[in-house]
Amino acid sequence: MTDPFIRFQNVNKVYQTKSGTVQACVDVSLDIQECEFVAVVGPSGCGKTTLLKMVAGLTPYSSGSITIDGKRVTEPQTEVGIVFQDAIMLDWRDVLSNVMLQIDIRRMDQASHRALALELLQKTGLTGFEHKRPYELSGGMRQRVSICRALVHDPPLLLLDEPFGALDALTREQISMDIQHLWMDKRKTALFITHSIPEAVLLADRVVVMSPHPGRIVEIINIDLPRPRRLDRVPQVFNEYTGRIRDIFKARGVLAMD
Ligand SMILES: Nc1ncnc2c1ncn2[C@@H]1O[C@H](COP(=O)(O)OP(=O)(O)OP(=O)(O)O)[C@@H](O)[C@H]1O
Ligand SMILES: [Mg+2]
Repeated sequence: MTDPFIRFQNVNKVYQTKSGTVQACVDVSLDIQECEFVAVVGPSGCGKTTLLKMVAGLTPYSSGSITIDGKRVTEPQTEVGIVFQDAIMLDWRDVLSNVMLQIDIRRMDQASHRALALELLQKTGLTGFEHKRPYELSGGMRQRVSICRALVHDPPLLLLDEPFGALDALTREQISMDIQHLWMDKRKTALFITHSIPEAVLLADRVVVMSPHPGRIVEIINIDLPRPRRLDRVPQVFNEYTGRIRDIFKARGVLAMD
């Protein structure tokens, strides 16, 4: 096996707050291979966002180590694309120039990235909306724009923090499909945080199951299902995977995860 693309080794995170310390993650060790799609599921407050922010270099870990491509993460990473739960966009820029934001800031080549931006917009069903303003879009469309924005500089790593959290069920399914197709097409390494067990099983090669706060990894489940996967025709084994993950949570007193 090749060296992992991302390696968490005995990572702990303690936040210092006015009222004391909060242990967010406990002894997290996880290897993620290049081009692998890993989902993390766990109850609210178990440290999922913290894990993602530590990989992105947006918050420091307290002990242990995180490496990306063999290099220790000690500062904000530029070679990542991040999609957060709420699509934050600049209302005075149109859709295309919101997607191009990073390219402008980093003064990267306009023409080649514009072509990639238009391709991403086309692949997420946004052709024809390039010159709309963000406030003219639905929540699902805005989230698609933020996925395009995360991919436009062609980073090797995609970090998704509950990107469908604010969307209705049908839109969630459609955008899950978009993400699956983009990932199959562009072959990124993806770390996908979600509350939804079916979405984790739908998208991931492996599902990391976290304990309630403070978060530790309790199990890692390989999802051995052919791709592309669909939510409307799920094989029996799909339900076996979701049932198995639900059982892990039930055993830990976490009942509702979807
Ligand atoms: N900046 C911070 N300062 C202090 N404590 C924090 C900070 N960020 C998170 N925490 C605490 O760390 C723990 C983990 O938070 P985190 O946001 O990583 O959880 P989460 O699994 O993403 O939850 P959710 O599913 O609700 O998004 C929580 O107890 C939270 O209160
Ligand atoms: Mg979170």
